[in-house]
Amino acid sequence: MAPLIHKAAAAHYLTRDELELILNDDGCNDALFRAADKVRRQYVGDEVHLRGLIEFSNICRQNCCYCGLRRDNPHVRRYRLAEDTIVDFAAKAASYGYRTVVLQSGEDEYFTVERICSVVRRIKEFGLAITLSIGEKSFAEYQAYREAGADRYLLRIETTDRQLYEDLDPGMELANRVRCLDDLRTLGYEVGTGCLVGLPGQTMASLADDILYFRALDADMIGIGPFIPHPDTPLAAAKGGDVILSMKVMALIRLLLPYSNIPATTAMETLHPNGRILALQSGANVVMPNVTEGEYRQWYQLYPGKICVNDTPAHCRSCITGKIAAIGRPVATTHGFRQRNSSHNAI
Ligand code: SAM
Ligand code: SF4
Ligand code: FES
Repeated sequence: MAPLIHKAAAAHYLTRDELELILNDDGCNDALFRAADKVRRQYVGDEVHLRGLIEFSNICRQNCCYCGLRRDNPHVRRYRLAEDTIVDFAAKAASYGYRTVVLQSGEDEYFTVERICSVVRRIKEFGLAITLSIGEKSFAEYQAYREAGADRYLLRIETTDRQLYEDLDPGMELANRVRCLDDLRTLGYEVGTGCLVGLPGQTMASLADDILYFRALDADMIGIGPFIPHPDTPLAAAKGGDVILSMKVMALIRLLLPYSNIPATTAMETLHPNGRILALQSGANVVMPNVTEGEYRQWYQLYPGKICVNDTPAHCRSCITGKIAAIGRPVATTHGFRQRNSSHNAI
């Protein structure tokens, strides 16, 4: 596998078959992680960007079979934060030194375009970059958020396997997800996407397709998380994803999209006590600590065992800063926009 990893690190390209070969071979994992760490250092440097995550509503009109927040789950204690509370959490995030907040929610129709735009405008006054992660919307809605000041948008493709996507996301169409991501790109957002690893029926070939899709989209940010089965969903009995395979997918993405921003995801740490630090040493350069206050964290349960549900924003901030410092990496003080010295990630 060494020549293939070498090729990927130098040319930032592999074919679908080559990606599949690496994904199938666990003998090359250490070499792959080392190569991704090196490319990360070379292209985006040692700095780790922190993005403060505000989970502002767990109400969702969608019914994704893998997600604990799906509309048919009656066991969720539903909440939505008042607009003033969201703005207050963002102000506190700024005071802890965050330069970006990620506003995430289910697809909650209470949050009309006017409400979201008003929240975005108010938060922009703190000098923060804003990432929205609120699901599938129309071009006009995305345009309004952008004009209000939203900088980035996070919408995982989840899987590029159309049959699998449409089986697991009832009532949704892969073509619309792709349309959303294309619209976001047209509107000048930094586009964040990503996939779940370990969905039932997902193959290595399909993960290879996901990686090539991210490259074709020239995604600015790509988040990879193992799928963790939630007991109150139709996938309760599924096996779930593997943290090592998730890190392999992530490392390959670093090799193929060297300038992208790649988070060490919360789901990785849920499956492995040191998952985020291992990810930061295998290609990742971003962490998204939770800055939601109080009990809401416990109620935003996409999957069981989510980390930090009983912690405070102040505690998480010092916890993660300490862990990052312990591996000799600095926390960035800039907004952390995606770096590029060419129009295409892959040079
Ligand atoms: N509703 C928006 C959306 O779907 O894009 C944003 C919130 S949604 C909860 C954020 C992400 O959570 C999804 O893109 C999905 O990949 C992830 N997620 C949902 N259920 C999960 C599970 N059981 N295990 C791991 N990640 C999960
Ligand atoms: Fe809703 Fe997002 Fe969960 Fe799907 S993944 S049910 S859209 S919160
Ligand atoms: Fe939340 Fe460590 S980041 S407790």
